[in-house]
Amino acid sequence: MIKAIYGTKDIFSPEVFKWQQIEQLVRNVFKNFNYQEIRTPIFEETSLFKRGIGDSTDIVGKEMYTFTDKGGTSLTLKPEMTAAVVRAYIEHNFYKQSTLDKFYYISPMFRQERPQAGRLRQFHQFGAEALGVKSPELDAEMIYVAYYILKSFNLKNLAVKINSLGKNKEREIFKNELKQYLSSKLNLLSEDSKKRFETNVLRIFDSKDPNDIEIMQNAPNLLEYIDEESRKHFEQVQKLLNLLNVPFEIDHKLVRGLDYYTETTFEITSSSVGSQSALCGGGRYDGLVSQLGGPEIPGVGFAAGIERILLAIENEKSYEFSIPCLDYYIVRLDNNLIDKVYYYTTLLRNKNYTVDCDYSNRSVKAQMREANKANANYVIFIGGEEFTNGQCSIKNMKTGEQKLIPLDEIQYL
Ligand code: HAM
Repeated sequence: MIKAIYGTKDIFSPEVFKWQQIEQLVRNVFKNFNYQEIRTPIFEETSLFKRGIGDSTDIVGKEMYTFTDKGGTSLTLKPEMTAAVVRAYIEHNFYKQSTLDKFYYISPMFRQERPQAGRLRQFHQFGAEALGVKSPELDAEMIYVAYYILKSFNLKNLAVKINSLGKNKEREIFKNELKQYLSSKLNLLSEDSKKRFETNVLRIFDSKDPNDIEIMQNAPNLLEYIDEESRKHFEQVQKLLNLLNVPFEIDHKLVRGLDYYTETTFEITSSSVGSQSALCGGGRYDGLVSQLGGPEIPGVGFAAGIERILLAIENEKSYEFSIPCLDYYIVRLDNNLIDKVYYYTTLLRNKNYTVDCDYSNRSVKAQMREANKANANYVIFIGGEEFTNGQCSIKNMKTGEQKLIPLDEIQYL
C-alpha cells in the first residue's frame, strides 16, 4: 500500500473545518490591517534560499527538499516564505510603485526535520511581510497581529519574547566578543556548537544542550552592543507593545534560526505544546532585499505554524470550532422517487443551502442515520401517500417538530 510521506498529513473532515476557520480568521484580521495576499510558487531556484536564509543555517544545511529538474536546474520546495516574497517583490518592481507593501500568506512549507508532535516535513504557515519602510510601528504591528490572532483562539499560556540584533557592524563586533568568551570553553561545548563556533557563533544561543546552555548563561549580552539608533528603535517597539497591551519579555538570547535578521526579532511560544513551543517567529530583515539583488529596502515580518496553533488549542481546549451542518437532508421513502429527490436536492442547493441525499438506494433508517451524522437541521421526507397528494413532510431535527407542506413550496424555502 502506498502511504503518505513520513512527516506529512492528510487533512480531512471534521479536522479540515478547523483549518478553514483558522484560515478565515487570519484572512479577516489581515484584511483589517490592510495586508494583501501573495501566493508564490511551491518551488524556487535553490540559490534563492541559500542566499536568503544563509548557508550556515540548519534549514539550508540539513533540511531543504532540493532536487534537479530535467533541465538541470536545482530547485527547492520552499522551506519558508520570506525569501520567496522578497524575490517576487524585486521581480515585479513593487518598490518602484509604492513606498510600503504589506503582504500576507497562508501556505505549505517543507523542511526535512525529524517529525514529532508539532514538527512536520510539510507544515503550514500563515505570515506577513512588510517591505519598504523602516519603522518601529511596523515591527510592533507584526508582533501585535501575531499575538492578536493567537489570542482570538483564547490561548493563555503564551510568552512573547523580543530582542534586537542591532545592525551588521555592531553584530560583527559582538560575534568577535562572543568568540573570545567561548574560545577558552570550546572543548566543553557540544559537537554541534563547536561547528557553530566556526560557521555561525550566534546560533550557539539556540542550543538545547544543557552544558551549552550553562556556558551561555554568562556570555556577553548582544543588547549592550547595539548602537544608539537601534536602541531607540527597540525602545519604541517596546513602548508601542505596552500601549497595545501586549505583555512581553526581553530575551537577549533570541537570535532566531535564519541569517537575514537585523534589529528586532521576536517569538511567541506556548507552554501547552511540548518541546516545539514556538508558535510563531519573525523580525526585521533590512539587508535581505539588497542581498537578493534589489535596492536597499527594509523589511519586517513573521510566520506562524498552523499545526502548532491547532495543537495548543487542542491541549488547552481553548476554542470551540463550529461544527459543520447540513441545512436539509432529503430522505426518499420510495425507491422509484430517486429522480424527484435528486431534483429537489439540486433545487435547494441552487438556492445556496447545504443539502444532501442518499445515492445508493438505502433504507429509510440508513438515510436517517446519514442525516444525523451530517448534523442536518431539517429532514424532508419525499414519498408515500403524502407524495401522491402533492405534499412532503419536513422535520426540524432540533425540536422534533414535523409539518406537511406542498411539494411546490420547497422552492420557496
Ligand atoms: P521560522 O521560525 O523558521 O520562521 O518558522 C515560523 C513558524 O513556523 C515556527 O514558529 C513554527 O510555528 C512553524 N514551523 C517551523 N518549522 C516547522 C515544522 N517543521 N513543523 C511545524 N511547524 C513549523 C520563518 O519561517 C520566517 N520566514 C518567519 C519570518 C517571516 N521572519 C520574517 N518574516
